[in-house]
Amino acid sequence: MHIAIINGPNLNLLGKREPSVYGSKTFESYFEGLKEKFPAITFSYFQSNIEGELISEVQKMGAESDGIILNAAAYTHTSVGLGDAISAITAPVVEVHISNIYAREEYRHHSYLTGKCAGVISGLGLKGYELAVSYLSSAKNT
Ligand code: DQA
Repeated sequence: MHIAIINGPNLNLLGKREPSVYGSKTFESYFEGLKEKFPAITFSYFQSNIEGELISEVQKMGAESDGIILNAAAYTHTSVGLGDAISAITAPVVEVHISNIYAREEYRHHSYLTGKCAGVISGLGLKGYELAVSYLSSAKNT
């Protein structure tokens, strides 16, 4: 099974960026632990600060993976294009947010993605990614 993790803008700064909101771990170090926790799963990881690159990766992984975990970061709240990309593929997509977007500014309460996704996990920190992996791996087997 292949799961693709796609992270959007500013998530390359995890560990340094607003640690009180996003924690102090880099995604790279979290990702190493995640791969160890799920040795039977093949993971790919892509991060970009550019909307079009994220759309291209969703299209590509929609064809090449069994499921996508997408934290589109700020583009969650702005990108019709990313929402359309999710609609265009058949692989299930789980939307993940490290912080609880519903407990933050109002402009973060709306997502152009959630309605197109299998589900959304928000506010459970980096643990949200492994919960999404558990869901996608069990969804594949049921
Ligand atoms: C985020 C929440 C977004 O509102 C924000 O723009 C981010 C990160 C999260 O993981 O909590 O950059 O997606």
